[in-house]
Amino acid sequence: MSKVYEIREPISEEMEIFENKFSKLMLSDVPLLNRITHYIIKRKGKQMRPMLIFLCSKLLSSGKVNEKVYRGASVIELIHTATLIHDDVVDESNKRRGFFSINAIWKNKIAVLVGDFLLSKGMLLCIDNKDYDILDVISESVKQMSEGELLQIEKAKKLDIDEETYFEIIKKKTASLISSCCKIAAVSVNSSSSEIKKITKIGMYIGIAFQIKDDLFDYGKKTIGKPRGIDIKQKKITLPLIYTLNNINKSEKRWLIKSLKKNKKSRALINQIISLVKERGGLDYAIQIMNKYHKLSIDDLETFKDSSYKDSLKKMVNYVIERNY
Ligand code: IPE
Ligand code: IPE
Ligand code: MG
Ligand code: MG
Repeated sequence: MSKVYEIREPISEEMEIFENKFSKLMLSDVPLLNRITHYIIKRKGKQMRPMLIFLCSKLLSSGKVNEKVYRGASVIELIHTATLIHDDVVDESNKRRGFFSINAIWKNKIAVLVGDFLLSKGMLLCIDNKDYDILDVISESVKQMSEGELLQIEKAKKLDIDEETYFEIIKKKTASLISSCCKIAAVSVNSSSSEIKKITKIGMYIGIAFQIKDDLFDYGKKTIGKPRGIDIKQKKITLPLIYTLNNINKSEKRWLIKSLKKNKKSRALINQIISLVKERGGLDYAIQIMNKYHKLSIDDLETFKDSSYKDSLKKMVNYVIERNY
């Protein structure tokens, strides 16, 4: 199992400086906002996106980072944090990173506004420094994330999702931001257009594997710091369910669709659905597809010359599919 401290090793100094800069960026003159951002900083996440930015930029620049790379890392983490706060409102989720979500403590109104504050902080950081290329990348990504979330809601209402649409959703809602990390890293160290293209594609593969893994957590038993079974509850049809729906007989399919459509599902019903998905190989199938994207990203990473950054990036890709939360 790849450990986070091993991945962080070649960028530990940068991550420390980043954390300092990041917490300063969240400050405001409004006391309520400061209390909330303080709460957020104390419960930081895995910081996978800033780590990806530092590792990719060092990979592409033989180990040199600059101020723009730091700003890119801050912008991405600000936007990521904002989307998680909004996501928990949308998903009516009361847990995040092992603690109460912002909406659970301060309610939806405040959570929406705090998300907007962080989003605008990210945009302003780009504008103030004339990082228009970063602004371009993240604006496109934020647009795609909103589209992905809305497509997901639309599909959950109609329950008519196929594999192609699932991939469209996860590319937009998750992989686009992860891919943007790689792209921002590359443009910040002035990489060639072919290198920008190559690393952006790797980010897309990593992002897809990342979201398939996240969707698999919904079926697991481990504590992951956020609610489980919530996708099924909210009719969110992810890869394990898509496979199962396509590989069961008519009467089972009728039962499954009827069960998914229920607005109030008991824990027992959710467990029954999970059992069926497991039994029919839905989880195995999703793992197989996740491994496919893992391999695609590793194979493309191999084309870069050897370095500690490349090793760390490979460890990070392993961590994406092995992680427990
Ligand atoms: C969670 O992302 C949102 C998804 C895209 C599934 P992370 O799992 O990277 O969240 P934190 O920042 O570590 O909490
Ligand atoms: C993750 O959405 C993607 C975004 C935040 C846009 P999910 O709803 O699938 O992620 P978790 O499981 O709540 O982190
Ligand atoms: Mg959610
Ligand atoms: Mg969501």
